[in-house]
Order: sequence, then C-alpha cells, then structure tokens
Amino acid sequence: MKILVTGSEGFIGSHLTEKLLNLGYDVRAFILYNSFNSVGLLKDVNPKYKKKIEYFFGDIRDPLVVSKAVEDCDTIFHLASLIGIPYSYIAPGSYVATNINGTLNLLNSIKGKKIKFIHTSTSEVYGTAQYQPINELHPLNAQSPYAASKIAADQLVLSYANTFNIPSITIRPFNTFGPRQSLRAVIPTIITQCLTNSKNIRLGSLSPKRDFTYIKDTVNGFIAGFNSNFKSGETFNLGTGTEISIGEIAKILIKKINPKLKINNDNIRKRPKKSEVMRLISDNHKAKKELKWKPKYINKKLNEAFDETIQWYKGNELINLSNSDYIV
Ligand SMILES: NC(=O)c1ccc[n+]([C@@H]2O[C@H](COP(=O)([O-])OP(=O)(O)OC[C@H]3O[C@@H](n4cnc5c(N)ncnc54)[C@H](O)[C@@H]3O)[C@@H](O)[C@H]2O)c1
Repeated sequence: MKILVTGSEGFIGSHLTEKLLNLGYDVRAFILYNSFNSVGLLKDVNPKYKKKIEYFFGDIRDPLVVSKAVEDCDTIFHLASLIGIPYSYIAPGSYVATNINGTLNLLNSIKGKKIKFIHTSTSEVYGTAQYQPINELHPLNAQSPYAASKIAADQLVLSYANTFNIPSITIRPFNTFGPRQSLRAVIPTIITQCLTNSKNIRLGSLSPKRDFTYIKDTVNGFIAGFNSNFKSGETFNLGTGTEISIGEIAKILIKKINPKLKINNDNIRKRPKKSEVMRLISDNHKAKKELKWKPKYINKKLNEAFDETIQWYKGNELINLSNSDYIV
C-alpha cells in the first residue's frame, strides 16, 4: 500500500511519516519545493526508515503537480498547510491559496479514484469555546484568517465526501507539541528561551488555556483514523480533554530548566484581543469510542512528554535561533 503524506517535512508530518514507515507502509513524502533541496524535518527521521522514503517535491497550489503526486496512491494524509496565526494577519491570501485551493486541488485529483483521504483540521476552527469541553458539534467561528481558511478546507472535504463519494475523514488536532516543532509555537519558544537566557524570558498572553497533546498521541490518532471503519464525512477531535494555561506551562518548564528565570511581558507577542482564542479544551469521546484512540500523555505522563521535548531542543541546532525575533 502506498501512502502520500502532504506536509511530510513539517512537525506532525515528519513524525507521522516515520510512524507509517515503522509500520511497514510505503510512503511518498510530498515536500514543498524549495531551492535548497531541503527535506525539512525529515532529515531527523531514523536513518533505517529514511532511506525508504520516496521524496516528491512540489506545491499543493499547483493542480498539475498534485495530480502527479497522487498517482498509484491508496491513501492520502493531508497535512500541508500554512499554520502560523500571526502570519495569517499579514498574508491572508497565501492562506487561501495554500489551505483552501491546495486542498481543493488534492480533492479534484482523487475524484472517482477511491483513494482514502485523511484531512487535517485544527481546534482553532472553534474559536473561543462557547461551551466546554468542545465536541465536534460546537459551532465553527473563525477568529483569524488561518482559522477561516481551515474551516473552508474542512467544508470542501465534507462537500466532496457528500457530492462525489470521496472516502474521507477529518482529524482535528488540538495544540500538539513535541520534538521538532517550530520555534514559532509556544512550548518550543518557552523551552528555547529558558535554555538560553539567564534572567528573564519574554512571553505574550499568559492566560489563554489550551489542550496540549503530545505528538506521539496525535500521530497515534491519525493512525487510528486510518485503521477505523472510515465513516466518510466524519470529523474527530484529537485532544487530551484537559486544559492548562500558557502561564502554567511556562512555570512548569521554568522549574524544570532554570527555576531562577522570571517571565517578562512582551506586547509584540500579543494577538489582537478578539482574535485571541481564550480557551480550547476537547471533548474526545468520539475519537475514543469510534477510533479506539486514547491519549497516553496526560497527568503524570505529561511530565515525560515535556522532558522528551526539552531533551530534543537541548541537543538540537534550532537552539541557535532562540534569540531571534520569532513571535508566538
Ligand atoms: N501543530 C499543531 O499544534 C497543530 C494543531 C492543530 C492542527 N494542526 C494542523 O496539522 C497540520 C500540520 O501542522 P504542523 O504543526 O506539522 O505544521 P508545519 O508548518 O510544521 O507543517 C506544515 C507543512 O506544510 C508544508 N506546506 C506549506 N505550504 C505548502 C504548499 N504550498 N505545498 C506543499 N506543502 C506546503 C510546509 O512546508 C510544512 O512542512 C496542519 O494542517 C495544521 O493546520 C497543527
């Protein structure tokens, strides 16, 4: 069985690709074409699996290259996306082109082909929770151009399942963290600042609460979706069902890395008030029941996840970037 993974060179995609190879599948890794011939985070994949990867360079905005990428594939995991919320404020057109048109290109390329399509959404589509925990029936409310583009992509996938019988499900991860994540995300930002500063770290809003899910759990959720009886058109939240504020996470990480550090407020990192999603906590009953998925890294095990993540940043060259002006 050949599996196409879009966004394979990214954070979640590289872990998913590694897991699929570990399970014995043939993987074609769709990588955003770039002039450096870089395979992104796939460079960190265990060498025993890396040599089996079929690299495919392209751009999901181009329908021709997308139709080539899906040839001979049985399943597609679609993770390619622009994901930064702050960048979506200044480049919303790029988000429409990549997240909406890119998804449309993939859907058009598999019409009538019976290829399984596993689409990736995000908890950001819900906006600030109107009730807690958030189940899949919660209204969708775009608080950023990023969220708007993901809602549109999700609806396109649903519409193609309904109209053209494309076998597809949507996996909706809540905030995922772990080794290899971009320093633009909050946990890597906190860790790398803690590792490289002796007095203070700078953070934006400390009060937003999130359902942080460890990458190993998220990847297992994608695999559980793939192995499920594949009820087309269904969406599954992947979250732990617990919430923690950014401030609390910062305190835990500071304690683990350097208890002397203080947190300084950094207004540049704050989002416009109505755009900041204040609470996101998942109701994961549907994934538990229908996908037989259960997050393992909660409560005491969450510590293990933080330790593994800290360890990765300690040993990684990305640390050199931590004093740059990356903004959460
Ligand atoms: N990280 C999280 O906490 C989180 C939470 C919820 C949902 N998601 C979703 O999971 C997916 C993966 O996110 P991630 O955290 O791994 O982000 P990431 O930025 O590490 O990965 C996204 C990948 O998409 C690729 N890409 C971007 N534009 C492309 C294009 N035009 N053509 C081909 N490839 C392109 C990028 O090169 C990158 O490798 C995304 O769909 C994102 O919306 C992520």
